[in-house]
Amino acid sequence: MARILTGIQSSGIPHLGNALGAIEPGIELSQKKDAESFFFIADLHSLTSLKDRAKRLENVHAVAAAWLALGFDANRNFFYRQSDISAVCELNWYLNCFAPYPMLANAHSFKDKSDRLADVNAGLFTYPVLMAADILLYDADLVPVGKDQQQHLEMTRDIGGALNHSVGEEILKLPESVIREDVKTVPGTDGQKMSKSYGNTIDIFSSAKILKKQVMGIVTDSKGLNDPKDPDSCNIFAIYRLLAGADAIGEMRANYAKVGFGYGHAKMALLELILDKYGDPREKYNALTSKPELIEEQLLAGAEKVRPIAAEVLGRVKSALGF
Ligand code: TRP
Repeated sequence: MARILTGIQSSGIPHLGNALGAIEPGIELSQKKDAESFFFIADLHSLTSLKDRAKRLENVHAVAAAWLALGFDANRNFFYRQSDISAVCELNWYLNCFAPYPMLANAHSFKDKSDRLADVNAGLFTYPVLMAADILLYDADLVPVGKDQQQHLEMTRDIGGALNHSVGEEILKLPESVIREDVKTVPGTDGQKMSKSYGNTIDIFSSAKILKKQVMGIVTDSKGLNDPKDPDSCNIFAIYRLLAGADAIGEMRANYAKVGFGYGHAKMALLELILDKYGDPREKYNALTSKPELIEEQLLAGAEKVRPIAAEVLGRVKSALGF
């Protein structure tokens, strides 16, 4: 059985772009029969930039609640919080000693910030090593990630390979990366990629009132009710087509050519679709985040499940290195 593993950034309440681009494809992958999925929330990595305790916990809970609310089956799979398995920090140390300085200095995660070295902490510099520990600690076979993480995965293989070579034995399993080329880029309300930093998100887990405001705020051209409109250059349609079924998309396309069909109508149709699709998940999300102890329970159960695997791999490494 193939073991699929990936880390989820804990960067706040997921929006429609996260749901369509990462969470839903991840859940689909985890439903494959011949595979088991290890999905964890990378809260240790968040410490490289976020120092605030309350914010970290809030972010972890929000991300975990979103995955569970959208249907990730934490019982069939392995769903845990990175920091609950302290063996990852120990493996991180061993791997640090097999990670050459020039390789780390070449990592995008560091290079992007290297013009402001005073802001770079050692955790950020060795970010790829902790990622290698995340992966190698669980004998992962496949690691699905976006293109931006490809370099980190190559480093994982390099670091793991260096340790194996040094001890003359295949102590660590070197995983294959699965680079997701087809990651959906979901446009935001202004047509740019949907991102919290652009302030153009559609927040599927917020109230119906906020959702309505966001959808009504989608930027369009100024064509009037009776002008024919081009769906292919319209932000509303661009989002609609990611959510609707083929028939509804065809109907919407036809509506754009009709007299008396305005952008307001298209927005209402999109809003309805979002409320319909994410109504249940929103309720589940609210139920979970209003009782964070329920989320903690799930994460701790997940940690219990993976801890023996981590202990076994760490044992192999320590023994091979003479500890
Ligand atoms: N760095 C990854 C990201 O930014 C998250 C991550 C942490 C990860 N550890 C991982 C992904 C291990 C895959 C495997 O998205």
